[in-house]
Amino acid sequence: MKTLLVTGGCGFIGSAFLRRFVAAEPGLRFVNLDLMTYAADAENVAAVDGLPNYRFVQGDVRDRALMRDLVLGESVDAIVHFAAESHVDRSINDSTAFVSTNVAGTHALLDAARARLGVRFMLVSTDEVYGSLGENDPATSEDAPLRPGSPYAAAKAGADLLAQSYARTYGLDLRITRCANNFGPCQYPEKLIPVLVRRALAGETLPMYGDGRNIRDWLHVDDHAAAVWAVLTRGVSGRVYNVGADNPRRNLDIAQRVLDRLGLTRDRIAFVTDRLGHDWRYCVDDARLRAELGWTPQVDFDAGLNETIDWYATHPDWVERALVRGAATWGRA
Ligand SMILES: NC(=O)c1ccc[n+]([C@@H]2O[C@H](COP(=O)([O-])OP(=O)(O)OC[C@H]3O[C@@H](n4cnc5c(N)ncnc54)[C@H](O)[C@@H]3O)[C@@H](O)[C@H]2O)c1
Repeated sequence: MKTLLVTGGCGFIGSAFLRRFVAAEPGLRFVNLDLMTYAADAENVAAVDGLPNYRFVQGDVRDRALMRDLVLGESVDAIVHFAAESHVDRSINDSTAFVSTNVAGTHALLDAARARLGVRFMLVSTDEVYGSLGENDPATSEDAPLRPGSPYAAAKAGADLLAQSYARTYGLDLRITRCANNFGPCQYPEKLIPVLVRRALAGETLPMYGDGRNIRDWLHVDDHAAAVWAVLTRGVSGRVYNVGADNPRRNLDIAQRVLDRLGLTRDRIAFVTDRLGHDWRYCVDDARLRAELGWTPQVDFDAGLNETIDWYATHPDWVERALVRGAATWGRA
């Protein structure tokens, strides 16, 4: 039986990946390694916990001995590396944990992979490694230089480049995805959409950085999970795949949609001092993924956004629990 080591599987995207593929792929074994930081919730994977082909290990990707033990001891065939510190504002406040987990953690995992010949390494990178685009710049191809703008993006770029060096130097079987902004259930409520929903429901204002005109391309998390699977199973070794949605939206547009869905007036939006170094726009060219692997997004944006808003509105306990965990860690490395 083939074994996949999935890191960060109790977070937003990793859990969507596990919920989608553990039950659907009973011939594969999934080992979920997660440190359970503030961003993780065991409930995110409750649907797969208990399935015979699933095992959870609480641990740190920076623990070099544990990574080696897991990769060798579990006879891992492929690593799907989601684990990261992922919130840009936290990285601006203090980037220590970002450099440590995103760079040193990836390094530990890469060295563990080196110890087991033939293991496949799937790195979940981000479109933020390319840095910001101007309003009319063409979409970024996979060959574009990495010009990260935030400490988060720089740490992810570090992981991305380190992994590429292992492919070149040691012949690691590497694939990388660089995906646009994700939305969907189980995203920690410090990210844009869950923040907007929570505050709207609490009767508070909806904060908008700057003039709210920054543009992000929005992809449903299930479509990202499907893209990772396509690249993992059918992608070309050594290749980078951008993952886009062809669905650019201004942050202000997202806030207005949240208010419309909840039947609230748009005057609740409050413009606040812009994020330091705020990237204006991301937009990736994902023609390679679509042409080579036949991937296309399946979730309609409006339907997916409505479902997402409704999910946060109907899971106040999940949101509250997350906020309590996160408040205790803000500002700590
Ligand atoms: N959210 C997005 O829109 C987006 C877009 C593109 C790429 N990505 C990338 O996808 C991956 C997952 O993002 P997410 O939004 O699910 O993040 P998340 O913050 O929701 O989840 C991260 C998970 O990693 C775990 N983790 C953190 N540090 C760890 C450590 N040292 N050892 C083991 N586990 C650790 C956390 O406990 C958590 O479960 C990240 O690598 C991120 O850079 C995210």
